Amino acid sequence: MKTIGFIGVGKMATAIISGLDKQKFDILISGRDFEKTKGEASELSVTAVNAHKELVEKSDVIVLAIKPQVLPTILSEIAPVLTPEKTLLSIAAGFTLSDLKHLTKAESIPIIRVMPNINAQIQKSTSAIVRNEYVTDDIYEFAKTIFASVGTVHEIAEKDFSAFTALAGSSPAYIYMFIDALARAGVLHGIPKATATKIVAETVAASADMVLTSDENPWSLVDKVSSPGGTTVAGVVSLEQNRFVGTVIDAITATIDKEKKLS
Ligand SMILES: NC(=O)c1ccc[n+]([C@@H]2O[C@H](COP(=O)([O-])OP(=O)(O)OC[C@H]3O[C@@H](n4cnc5c(N)ncnc54)[C@H](OP(=O)(O)O)[C@@H]3O)[C@@H](O)[C@H]2O)c1
Repeated sequence: MKTIGFIGVGKMATAIISGLDKQKFDILISGRDFEKTKGEASELSVTAVNAHKELVEKSDVIVLAIKPQVLPTILSEIAPVLTPEKTLLSIAAGFTLSDLKHLTKAESIPIIRVMPNINAQIQKSTSAIVRNEYVTDDIYEFAKTIFASVGTVHEIAEKDFSAFTALAGSSPAYIYMFIDALARAGVLHGIPKATATKIVAETVAASADMVLTSDENPWSLVDKVSSPGGTTVAGVVSLEQNRFVGTVIDAITATIDKEKKLS
């Protein structure tokens, strides 16, 4: 059985570990504070390790699940114990395979980059994956299995990671904002917030299902809902007059720009 070591036990690591079958994977974690990590290990039914270097020595795949700001410090700490037999797997936004290789200060370390999203918490992450030339097919398949345990996995070119990060990593926040905005409008018009939120969330989930399962593109679905002279088209025109599409595109571009500045 292969051993996966997680450095950093925050929201993403917790979500991923929760989705993994503990019978199929040996899982180690190391955090910032060992007492806290021991508590997290007991809740997640995994093993706490006191030092990042020790975790690296005991793991086949090391998942870097810390914030991008902390990543360079952690990588310089563990660099002396990295070997070509161990694979680094980073989920940090903004760090390319080349940045990560540079930070390990070694030539031939196998490195995988994955961008999951917060829906890993409900085993519905949409994740992207890419590897460098030192990752074997066997380990790459293993890494895909880890993320397939918590959702879907898309192999994409690394040049598309920033856009993917915006579209899948950050967009849940924008979708929550959209859901909340619709629900708030419901409150304005007399529906209690909890009821309005449930109504909207169910409608958003079903509309996404419709896009995924029908052969139609979203705009043709908009046309289908918009009867001539009807209520829906009045709302569609109002959204457009307020730059709905342009505003969403600006938000995605801002996300991509910020991601590029992080590394
Ligand atoms: N959240 C998302 O939706 C999402 C989506 C895609 C990718 N990501 C990526 O996933 C990574 C983790 O994000 P997150 O949302 O899980 O962040 P998070 O909840 O803040 O988790 C980060 C964890 O790192 C720990 N940490 C800080 N310094 C450390 C150190 N020196 N050694 C070990 N652990 C340390 C923190 O511990 P303390 O709390 O004790 O400080 C915390 O548990 C980031 O790189 C992010 O870019 C996140």
